[in-house]
Amino acid sequence: MRVILPMPGNEAMAGALAERLDAELGVLDWRRFPDSEAYVRIASEVRGKRVYIVCTLANPDPQILTLIFAAAAARECGAESVHLIAPYLAYMRQDRRFKPGEAVSATHFARLISQHFDALVTVDPHLHRIRALETIFSIPTHVGAAAPLLGEWIAQNVGAALIIGPDQESEQWAAEVARSAGAPHVVASKLRIDDEQVRVELPDLSAWSGRRPVLADDIVSSGRTMIEASRVLAARGMAKPYCLAIHAVFAPGAFDHLAQLSERVVTTDTIAHPSNAISVVDTLARLIAS
Ligand code: R5P
Repeated sequence: MRVILPMPGNEAMAGALAERLDAELGVLDWRRFPDSEAYVRIASEVRGKRVYIVCTLANPDPQILTLIFAAAAARECGAESVHLIAPYLAYMRQDRRFKPGEAVSATHFARLISQHFDALVTVDPHLHRIRALETIFSIPTHVGAAAPLLGEWIAQNVGAALIIGPDQESEQWAAEVARSAGAPHVVASKLRIDDEQVRVELPDLSAWSGRRPVLADDIVSSGRTMIEASRVLAARGMAKPYCLAIHAVFAPGAFDHLAQLSERVVTTDTIAHPSNAISVVDTLARLIAS
């Protein structure tokens, strides 16, 4: 028997998963004490059941202790196993030490999650220098792929698209989106100067001048990558791009800025956002059921 338990803010995703899996939708009572410490109570019967806690991890710091308390409480209430469903998995981008003394947060975060959960289900974690989640997590990890979903959306909504991956590392992924979309693809080259500044260079696009550019990336965070790429496209006289991303992290102001430069901004529902137009519910449900 499965119980799908939403952390605060994850009720819609948890409800959709429970319905899709014909599973029980559990209840978690949560509030802050006057001193801002967290109160957590598992308000559903979980004894002998497999508990799937749904918590997308955008803005992880204010959520992580509450999530760990919920996992511990579920275990103390007799859950058979406790799984984390994190449609967006945080802290995967600081994956090496660039300067002496830096915390490699990807490995520390993976260790923390592995201590409290029996398994992890997520969608397209940002894996760059870390080859696979199992190299940093000590629990089973199950990863859904959203590239085919982005490709299908493009095929249905954009005529004569040209898929543009934002950097050299996105080559394979952009090719996968392009294959599903039935469209050609190119990749840009990107130099990140600091947290807020990137330089994007595009290859010669003259062969594709009749096509609609579609920028496809895994994450939009500060938005600088897509904003700069959109600017370069405009300077080349290309049409306004569609900007597609899996994870709608969006730092304050990023979405509005990008929306001005693009035909449309489209994301999946790994993080709830007004730009969500592609659902990963079926992808997650298949992984949970397998
Ligand atoms: C980086 O390698 C990722 O694939 C994204 O391009 C990056 O995380 C986007 O970040 P931002 O929106 O801050 O430019």
